[in-house]
Amino acid sequence: VNKGHGVKGLADLGLKTLPHQYIQPPQERFDTSLEDATHDSIPLIDMSRCDDPKVAEAVCNAAQKWGFFQIINHGVPIHVLENVKEATHGFFGLPAEEKNKYSKEHSVTNNVRYGTSFTPEAEKALEWKDYLSLFYVSDDEAASCWPPICRNEALEYMKSFEIVVKKLLEILMNGLNVKEIDQTKESILMGSKRINLNYYPICPNPELTVGVGRHSDVSTLTLLLQDDIGGLYVRNTMNMKWIHVRPISGALVINVGDALQIMSNGKYKSVEHRVSANGSRNRISAPIFVNPKASDIIGPLPEVLQSGEKPLYKHVLYSDYVKHFFRKAHDGKATIEFAK
Ligand code: SIN
Ligand code: FE2
Repeated sequence: VNKGHGVKGLADLGLKTLPHQYIQPPQERFDTSLEDATHDSIPLIDMSRCDDPKVAEAVCNAAQKWGFFQIINHGVPIHVLENVKEATHGFFGLPAEEKNKYSKEHSVTNNVRYGTSFTPEAEKALEWKDYLSLFYVSDDEAASCWPPICRNEALEYMKSFEIVVKKLLEILMNGLNVKEIDQTKESILMGSKRINLNYYPICPNPELTVGVGRHSDVSTLTLLLQDDIGGLYVRNTMNMKWIHVRPISGALVINVGDALQIMSNGKYKSVEHRVSANGSRNRISAPIFVNPKASDIIGPLPEVLQSGEKPLYKHVLYSDYVKHFFRKAHDGKATIEFAK
């Protein structure tokens, strides 16, 4: 399908019907009758008084019960968020040949990747999304390899959240009886970072496909900036219904990833989520994945098992875990079986 031009290329052709490759099986489509009629929403946490024990309690509760929450008053200036959104539109608005300089075939480094869907080689049905994935190695590498149209904006966005990430991890670790984040822990919790810029163009038949299929993240924590369009749904683990993550201006969505679920021995939940396609508006999002280092071995933390709790997961090399995730199509919560 329109090879090398992504779904934005398809949308730009003005297609009236969805190409068959994108038609998802009925159970994966967005059936609005399965949405949570109670209009539950994930917790909203004000970080302005983040040293207040009540805030810490709210964060730990949200990570246990929902796996997802939104934060406001996180201290990152609004212009940093606006700039990265604008730069995302800028990148995807480039001519196909410009974007393709960063494709798997042409990119000068594996750390920069422009692509479409999730794992097209492994998917029975494709997902209606284009992305630019930027794995952070150093400022120098970013300056020479990231696309000029978005490099400064993406880097500033990533760096601005450093303090908030540390605070959240400190709170979450405290909730697990880990009193101090030493160097080894810091590496395992946040030894590497990746930022993705996602583009979901207007789709001719949004009811037949998905923007992103059901999955949980392989990160420690994911921070997600979305625009005002909406379309992200998370599983309510109490009744298995889907909850819409309401876009809140200036807010960031935070979620627990598989690595933290494993380290916390299942206390913090890495929850399934997915994204709908949209029939009338182009949507963007910009997740920052805070990950262990590839060479780290992850498993339930000793502090968590101290009280005699039985380990629910074995120790795995983080790069093996990630490889396993990227070998297959999105498949809900299946990846974590790899650590059992
Ligand atoms: C994802 O979870 O892969 C994307 C989330 C989003 O775009 O809202
Ligand atoms: Fe995700």
